[in-house]
Amino acid sequence: MAGVGTVIRYQSSLDGIAANHLEGFCEGWACRVPGRVLLRALDASSFVSLAVEEETGLVIGVGYAISDGVLFAYVPMLEVRKGYRGKGIGTRLMLLLLEQCQQLYGADLLCDASLQPFYARVGMKGVSGACVRNFEALRATCAGAGSSS
Ligand SMILES: CC(C)(COP(=O)(O)OP(=O)(O)OC[C@H]1O[C@@H](n2cnc3c(N)ncnc32)[C@H](O)[C@@H]1OP(=O)(O)O)[C@@H](O)C(=O)NCCC(=O)NCCS
Repeated sequence: MAGVGTVIRYQSSLDGIAANHLEGFCEGWACRVPGRVLLRALDASSFVSLAVEEETGLVIGVGYAISDGVLFAYVPMLEVRKGYRGKGIGTRLMLLLLEQCQQLYGADLLCDASLQPFYARVGMKGVSGACVRNFEALRATCAGAGSSS
């Protein structure tokens, strides 16, 4: 829980970040995503944006983007831990991600319509989208199949 004295560091690298700092994210997903799996995803992504509690090293907010490095980036995930929300952390994380994407033509993400006003705050425009989800693949990944660590 973020208290008055909580010092938060924002970073765009994985310096000092270990799997145990990333446990407990992906709230509401079809299965629990272990920290080591999330760390692999972050490591393979183009841009990361992390909010880290200085005192404990715990990652309290995470966002990342994958990009072709030429035209587009896509943001698959932005999440702030419960207890730390509503304090501007998600906004800061998104701004840090978009800053890293500023040479690109587009940065896209999918979200519920109710979240579009949140993303409008950082200059994003609501559009409609489409997606497909393979829950079997997610479960296999979380269980370690095909894992390199
Ligand atoms: C969305 C999320 C990242 C925002 O992080 P945060 O640190 O709370 O964001 P900020 O403090 O910068 O901004 C909070 C604002 O976002 C709005 N917001 C947050 N979650 C929302 C939701 N599910 N629906 C509508 N608005 C939402 C809040 O109402 C708040 O607005 P206010 O300041 O006018 O009260 C965080 O709520 C979260 O992790 N949610 C669960 C995961 C998720 O939905 N991620 C987005 C996937 S597209």
